[in-house]
Amino acid sequence: MSEKSPKLRAELDGIPTYKPGKPAAAGGPVAYKLSSNENPYPPLSGVLETAVAAAGNFNRYPDMACTGLVNELAERFGVPVEHIATGTGSVGVAQSLIQSTAGPGDEVMYAWRSFEAYPIITQISGATSVRVPLTDGDVHDLDAMAAAITDRTRLIFVCNPNNPTGTAVRRAELERFLDQVPSDVLVVLDEAYREFVRDADVPDGIELYRNRPNVAVLRTFSKAYGLAGLRVGFAVAHEPVAAALRKTAVPFGVSQLAQDAAVASLRAEDELMGRVGALVSERTRVHEALVAQGWTVPDTQANFVWMRLGERTGAFAEACEKAGVVVRPFAGEGLRVTIGETEANDLFLHAAAAFFKEL
Ligand SMILES: Cc1ncc(COP(=O)(O)O)c(C=O)c1O
Repeated sequence: MSEKSPKLRAELDGIPTYKPGKPAAAGGPVAYKLSSNENPYPPLSGVLETAVAAAGNFNRYPDMACTGLVNELAERFGVPVEHIATGTGSVGVAQSLIQSTAGPGDEVMYAWRSFEAYPIITQISGATSVRVPLTDGDVHDLDAMAAAITDRTRLIFVCNPNNPTGTAVRRAELERFLDQVPSDVLVVLDEAYREFVRDADVPDGIELYRNRPNVAVLRTFSKAYGLAGLRVGFAVAHEPVAAALRKTAVPFGVSQLAQDAAVASLRAEDELMGRVGALVSERTRVHEALVAQGWTVPDTQANFVWMRLGERTGAFAEACEKAGVVVRPFAGEGLRVTIGETEANDLFLHAAAAFFKEL
């Protein structure tokens, strides 16, 4: 028997493993998970019943084309059905976008810090990451990104609002940026948190995509819609990009349960958006309270807040955990805190007030 292990692609060496938000500790006093930008509400009752009904058929493969969901989305956004491609969460679609555009020798650009899956899925493809630092205000530096485009650039992510900072780029600056990007470079507007945006100057990517064939928009059912565990997201993109996404998607990746629950969620939207509105009110309350405590917190258009704490990040994360809330630290940089249940937000604010006094 050979001693050699199977040959793996060298590109995989050193890929950081995706760190999911820490779960709330079992058996602790009270423990709330504010570490994964999830929706704290349970599924809407109609959605749960639909999913349970679909579960009765899971001896069958799902509809690979996600026909019902794609039709519903196409009608809702006023786009051709051919322009919608689904996947196992929007991260699955993001991976297909890279696989469709970039390989060894090519460049994938994104702001940093941004969504931590970007470096991972870029490295898996063999392409090179080009990270452009956020501005001092933790916003995308679109001028620097435009200046960093080379003839090897294949795909540029603009995460709007940005994870983990919550900051968003406005219409005029984004349009100016898009005007500078060569038409053969794909710009992906990752709008995982779109439903939480309240600033009217933050553009809806689907409006920007319409007359720009090199713009694709990523959306998900994981955040506002509360279906994170079912794994369904989608892109809106022109041909031939959307067609490439259908080629590179994992076959049958989106379960029937996820497809049916997503359709039911779209149909229960008034109620869902009421919940999103409540989370946005909580976001305002948390943001204002932190500022009143003395913290500097950037404006957020997402369902989380960002606190740049540098070396104190770990200590504050520990203090939060002791107070009963699990948050998301990025060592040496800062901390992202999801807006959750009112009780959870109160526990967090309490911990923040106490920590600030000790600074
Ligand atoms: C900016 C951004 N994009 C995409 C995703 C992926 O979400 P999902 O794969 O659940 O749709 C996330 C999740 O945290 C995110 O923050």
